[in-house]
Amino acid sequence: MTRVILTRGVKEYRATILKYVDKSDTVLEIGSGWGTTTGLLYRAAGKVVGIDKGESYHTAAKTYPWIEFYQIDGFDVSQVLSLGYRFNKVYIDISGCRDIYDVIKIILRYQGAIRPEIIIVKSTKLKGFVDNCQVWNAGLNKDLIVR
Ligand SMILES: C[S@@+](CC[C@H](N)C(=O)[O-])C[C@H]1O[C@@H](n2cnc3c(N)ncnc32)[C@H](O)[C@@H]1O
Repeated sequence: MTRVILTRGVKEYRATILKYVDKSDTVLEIGSGWGTTTGLLYRAAGKVVGIDKGESYHTAAKTYPWIEFYQIDGFDVSQVLSLGYRFNKVYIDISGCRDIYDVIKIILRYQGAIRPEIIIVKSTKLKGFVDNCQVWNAGLNKDLIVR
């Protein structure tokens, strides 16, 4: 089962690296932008690849020539799979203000296709939404069961 960690803002997003990533990991960052977080992941992980659907991957590749960056739309999982890596951790930062449906859609796509151990997501909206949800658990709410 893939664990999904939701973060709000770049500070939280990057803070997860120390806790969740080590040299045994092969990490994918979707939405690598200029490569700053991918660069931090590189130091912690065994292997890291950054993908971005925009042109910023050029800048990222110039700044961090020792890291692989590709221009790929993160929703195109088959293109990601064709890179030939077995990613066990996935970082997703496809823009904080994006609709939460898109963010959920991409999480589910990677859960289904790659089944990584962990997906770490930067999305203020999704974290805010989940923060306001509570999971019903009949076992913990026995007094509320209607007999
Ligand atoms: C906030 S920036 C990334 C910053 C970077 N993760 C960092 O921490 O330094 C968001 C990036 O997501 C990229 N993006 C948006 N939708 C995407 C998609 N479907 N696939 C890949 N990249 C996407 C944008 O092109 C943009 O470069």
